[in-house]
Order: sequence, then structure tokens, then C-alpha cells
Amino acid sequence: MQISFTKNTNPGKMPPENKLGFGSIFSDHMFVMDYTDEKNWHNARIIPYGNISLNPAASVLHYANEVFEGMKAYRWADGSIHLFRPYENANRINISAERIGLPQIPVDMFVEAVKAVVKVDESWVPHSEGTSLYIRPFLFSTDPELALHGIHQAQFVIILSPSASYFAEGLKPVKIMLETEDVRAVRGGTGYTKCGGNYAASNRAGDKAMEKGYSQVLWLDGVERKYIEEVGAMNIMFKIDGVAVTPALNGSILGGITRKSCVELLKSWNFPVEERLLSVDELIGAAQNGKLEEAFGIGTAAVIAPVGALSYKDREYMINDFKIGPLAQKLYDELTGIQWGKKPDNYGWTENI
Ligand code: PLP
Ligand code: COI
Repeated sequence: MQISFTKNTNPGKMPPENKLGFGSIFSDHMFVMDYTDEKNWHNARIIPYGNISLNPAASVLHYANEVFEGMKAYRWADGSIHLFRPYENANRINISAERIGLPQIPVDMFVEAVKAVVKVDESWVPHSEGTSLYIRPFLFSTDPELALHGIHQAQFVIILSPSASYFAEGLKPVKIMLETEDVRAVRGGTGYTKCGGNYAASNRAGDKAMEKGYSQVLWLDGVERKYIEEVGAMNIMFKIDGVAVTPALNGSILGGITRKSCVELLKSWNFPVEERLLSVDELIGAAQNGKLEEAFGIGTAAVIAPVGALSYKDREYMINDFKIGPLAQKLYDELTGIQWGKKPDNYGWTENI
């Protein structure tokens, strides 16, 4: 792929690494590429980070035709920079795009674009433990057309954000709230995709949870409101009576790459792991009879986020005395060990840029 380059003549400055937070600081450049039915993908360019100009009729602004990815670049001790399973993100953006009717991006083109823009801004990959360069590829329709005539014009953009932990708590446990009224997704809908609309549907419950002092919402399935699905920005895993349990991918849950990696690691350790339906009654029953040993969210931004308390119908259940559990810690150590090049990558998950 030919990528043109326009250098940012007014570069920014990386803030102190202990002040990074998550997703609010951006590097000097971004990748942009256009699509039309006639020309297919074209005009790949790396340009200074800045505003995007859109026709006010651009269909993304009216009909939310947008999908995105979340991935990270990690700086290893020798200074080299690595991605984690980037082909998984490339495949998933196409699964999302297919559902929304957006044009798909050839997988190699996606990975090449990510590598190219990270390389240009490699000085923005932070050095400190627990930090990384969060990569946000996104794809949206630009057709200036209010009628619903399908998508014939689109743009693909990649922006980069040096980040620390998603939760201000870091690896300290967070509190989550089981949502019983709003639902995020239903089977047959878009729940299995990473489309912006899923997050819009989550806002009201998320705001309510935050007002009550909870970090995020734990969703129930949209039909029976009986089965545990996932959290606002991550998948969820529990340790119940010695077994790792995570909700099965049933069409309304995002197939997380962290979730997949954790399941693969657990299997390689011969640790019992089940991907299955998990009802709220079973979960709360386990919390009541002391069999809910651990709970933790799993996702790129959050990595492993131990859940110390779970609220359901105005009762709060404390999990593992509000401490990180041994399984969450072991998965965190192994996963971040591979990502930061401190442990051997026996699976070929890391990709040098
Ligand atoms: N579920 C939702 C709703 C998410 O937003 C994310 C984050 O990307 C995940 C799960 C975890 O997916 P991954 O591990 O691929 O980041
Ligand atoms: C990610 O983990 O990459 C995500 O996309 C979650 C996002 C809502 C911050």
C-alpha cells in the first residue's frame, strides 16, 4: 500500500507518564484512508493529528454507521515496539463492518496501516510499567445522503493515545452494578460487533451506575434478562467453586481478544474453564454461599480489572474481600508479561512493528 506522509510541524509534548490516564492525550499523527464504491480504498495518508471535516449530511452523523477497534502497542525493555494479536482486530473490524454494511478492509492493509502510523509516532509509546500506546482504528460512512440507500463512501482513521490504566483504580478492585432495566444488545442485533451504537445504548445505565458509585454496568441478556453477558467496556470472568466461568459468545456479546487469550492461557494451564450460559441466579447464589471466589473484567483497555463488589437489586455483594484474587493476578502477570516482552511468547501473539 502507498501511504503518503505529511509531517506535523507543530508537534505536541508527551505529559509525564504518571499523568497519562486513559484516552485523552493524542500523538502527533493519524492515519486516514478513503473509500468509494468506484475507487475502493484509496488515498492512504499519515497526516498531522487534527479535526476531520465532514459534510453535515454524512450518514454516520445521522445513522451511526461506525465501527471501531481497540488495541495497544507496547514498548519492551530493549526499546522495540510490539502489537498484540493485531490480526484478530483486523478480522473483528471486518465482522463489525459486515454487520453495519460498511466496506471491509483487507486484513493486511489494516495491520500495515497500524504499524505505519505507530512507527511514525513511536516516540509516543510510553516507557513506564503499566503504560502503552492505545490504538483506536475506526471506520465510518461519509455518504452525504439522508435517504437510506446503503453505504457507498467511507473513511478509515487510526488515532493513537498514550495511556495508562483504563480505571483510575489501576489493578485495585472496581465496583460494578448489574443492570436490570436497560439492555445493551440482543441476539440478531449488533451486540457481537464493536459499533458505536452499542456504547450509545449503554450510556444511560452507565451514568446511573456512576452516580451510585459504580465504575461500570454488568449487562444481562436482552431477551430474558436472566443471563450474564459482559461489562460496559470489557468481558467478564468469574471463578466459581474452583472453575473459571465466562459467558459463552451467543451473538450479543463482543468476542474479546483478551477473553480469547485468557481462555487459551487457562486451557494451557489445565485450569478448568467453561464458556457457557451463566444465570444471574446462579451467580448471586454463588455469591451468597461463598462459592464466588473471584470476578474480573477482561479487555484491552482495562486488561484485567478485578471486581471487588457487585450490586444487584440494591444489595451489594463483596467478592474476595475486595482484593485481587490469585487467578486474576496470574492471568494479569502472564498476559502483560507476554505483551511487555518479559515472558516468552509461546503463541506468536506479539508482532514487532
Ligand atoms: N466487551 C466490550 C463491550 C468492549 O468494549 C471490549 C473492549 O474492547 C471488550 C468486551 C473486550 O474486548 P478486547 O479484549 O478485544 O479488547
Ligand atoms: C477497548 O478495551 O479497547 C475498548 O474499546 C473499550 C472502550 C470502551 C474504552
